[in-house]
Amino acid sequence: MSDSKQVRKSVSEFYTRAVKSGSGCCGGGKVVPKGFAAQFAGYGDDVAGLPADAVANSFGCGNPLAFSEVKPGEMVVDLGSGAGIDLLIAARKVGPTGRVIGVDMTDEMIARARANAAEAGFANIEIRKGIIEDLPVETASVDWVISNCVINLSPEKDRVFAEIARVLKPGGRMLVSDIVVQDVPAWVRESMALYASCVAGAVSEAEYVNALRRAGLADVEVRERYLYDFDQVRALIESEVPADATASCCGPAPSSCCGGDTAPIDAAAIAAEVAQKVWSAKFHARKP
Ligand SMILES: C[S@@+](CC[C@H](N)C(=O)[O-])C[C@H]1O[C@@H](n2cnc3c(N)ncnc32)[C@H](O)[C@@H]1O
Repeated sequence: MSDSKQVRKSVSEFYTRAVKSGSGCCGGGKVVPKGFAAQFAGYGDDVAGLPADAVANSFGCGNPLAFSEVKPGEMVVDLGSGAGIDLLIAARKVGPTGRVIGVDMTDEMIARARANAAEAGFANIEIRKGIIEDLPVETASVDWVISNCVINLSPEKDRVFAEIARVLKPGGRMLVSDIVVQDVPAWVRESMALYASCVAGAVSEAEYVNALRRAGLADVEVRERYLYDFDQVRALIESEVPADATASCCGPAPSSCCGGDTAPIDAAAIAAEVAQKVWSAKFHARKP
């Protein structure tokens, strides 16, 4: 199995455990109660009336559709749709004449999203199993691509950006909330234990913007930023990392098990190192 396939397999296993367990922002562990992510994501009234399971199993880091200009009748695709919170919000916006497609690789997430869409009574949502690096979506068919805290997890981000450019109609737009990092020390970026917590795989805002432009997208800009403080970074990490994790032995990447470092993960120490250097950014882009 290639390294990229192995990373995806491990990320998928991680999110299977996360959605089955009782906690979580952007992953699942033991300390932080479910719903934690939604609190910081800025959903506000957008989640009113949605199934509680969809809100509790929100693993995002923003509200990609907040203040968006999505119109009735349009087609939205959500990359890494998880348990479906953004699919439901999109389905309300596009209405019965519009369509929403979620793409996710994790069976347990797909099952949750389908159940949540059924509970909410939306017939305009479809969830397809697939990877965001090779979207099961027709070329030039989509008005909006959205995604929430997923692309940082991809080991092949350029492929994801190329796929976004492929599936958008000319004039179609992208709104993506994701984690970015700046000046994070190498030992944090190399900690595979922090990969699924959306820290180790994250790139800088500038790298993100440049990669979107290289993919041929226009009007690339950052529309919102939410900087995580010490307590929030600590909670993010504690929500991800198993209690018995060591610095090299619990992450999803193939090299993670089991290297030299067997020191336990110290979430407070990591948070002290990366607080104010990790934030959620909302990226906008348009296909020319
Ligand atoms: C952090 S969760 C975010 C879920 C959802 N967007 C939300 O806001 O609640 C990441 C999700 O992306 C999916 N995922 C991660 N990498 C993926 C990939 N390369 N292809 C498809 N799905 C992926 C996982 O299965 C998981 O459901």
